[in-house]
Amino acid sequence: MKGVVLAGGTGSRLYPLTKITNKHLLPVYDKPMIYYPIQTLVDAGIREILIVTGGKNAGDFLRLLANGKEFGLRHLHYTYQEGEGGIAEALALAEHFADGDKLCVILGDNIIEGSIRDAVEDFRRQPRGAKILLKEVPDAERFGVAEIVGDRIVGIEEKPKRPRSNYAVTGIYMYDNTVFDKIRTLVPSERGELEITDVNNAYIREGTMTFSFLEGWWTDAGTFDSLLRAANLVVQSRRRALEPAAVGSDKT
Ligand code: DAU
Repeated sequence: MKGVVLAGGTGSRLYPLTKITNKHLLPVYDKPMIYYPIQTLVDAGIREILIVTGGKNAGDFLRLLANGKEFGLRHLHYTYQEGEGGIAEALALAEHFADGDKLCVILGDNIIEGSIRDAVEDFRRQPRGAKILLKEVPDAERFGVAEIVGDRIVGIEEKPKRPRSNYAVTGIYMYDNTVFDKIRTLVPSERGELEITDVNNAYIREGTMTFSFLEGWWTDAGTFDSLLRAANLVVQSRRRALEPAAVGSDKT
């Protein structure tokens, strides 16, 4: 399975922090934001990774990440999204890179505590379709929200005013190679973007979408509050890992 980190868009919700740089290059505690999603893919055993970026500072990604040596990689792939036509538009740029393989896609502003390795292994064994990771949150209206009936996912609503559940769709998506045909059928939403939620609903209609729940904390980092929250969560985890009391105890 190959990996894709989506790091396009303008980061307008973080203006003026994003006036002269790309959102995904901003610091989250002691690392640039994009380090976290790359590390998540690498920790899941994914070695071939494409970075999709855009805007005026795209060249800075190459200077920062080069060939991915800091992650133990020998090579990184890059592509450029003109404009900011949505997550699904950015993903469409990965068709050539995917070359028929399955993809694990992660949004460049999504940071997690745990690992996605088991979900990735499950999806390797899944014959076709897609898989998403859900997380229970107190503010579901900020996200794509899954409606679950029994053990089935029956639909996703993008930022609903009245969410039907507390299960946010995290920005970690696994797709087979039919994803590109599905993107080609999309029309822009009210916010003028090709929505990843429409792609996911196409898989749900087809009956080939599976899901699991993400362990550990999860946050985006695309608003002032979530950027601060992300840094605090990272530092707390880092300190917990250093606490002598944690060694040999059942703390997670
Ligand atoms: O964080 C999870 C949420 O991400 C999901 O629950 C939502 O269903 C999904 O639509 C998305 O919501 P946001 O509105 O928060 O997405 P945002 O526009 O902030 O974009 C998230 C990342 O996607 C961004 O850090 C980079 C990438 N992106 C986004 C756009 C609009 C691109 O690469 N290109 C783009 O044109």
